[in-house]
Amino acid sequence: MRLTPDQSGLIRRAAMVSFTFDGAPVAGHAGESLTVALLRAGHLHLRDAPEDTAPRGAFCCMGLCQECVVRINGQVVESCRTLVASGLAVTSLKDRA
Ligand code: FES
Repeated sequence: MRLTPDQSGLIRRAAMVSFTFDGAPVAGHAGESLTVALLRAGHLHLRDAPEDTAPRGAFCCMGLCQECVVRINGQVVESCRTLVASGLAVTSLKDRA
């Protein structure tokens, strides 16, 4: 295996912004996937399955499975296809039964 020098310090990240998830403050980099910011903050449970209320969270992370849906401004959106922006008020779809 060829070892290369650690270049992680060269990664330029967008500024941190804050938004809320079920009323709790969460920080994320502006423009990153909302799923990534939520996972990094430890929010794995994003919704409940409608049939049996089992906890569900992101699975495919590319907009195919719908497991990551959350509500923003009254609209249900895929969090993996939604970008973090300052001031978003995100709510989970838990306890919908
Ligand atoms: S994780 Fe599959 S659609 Fe978002």
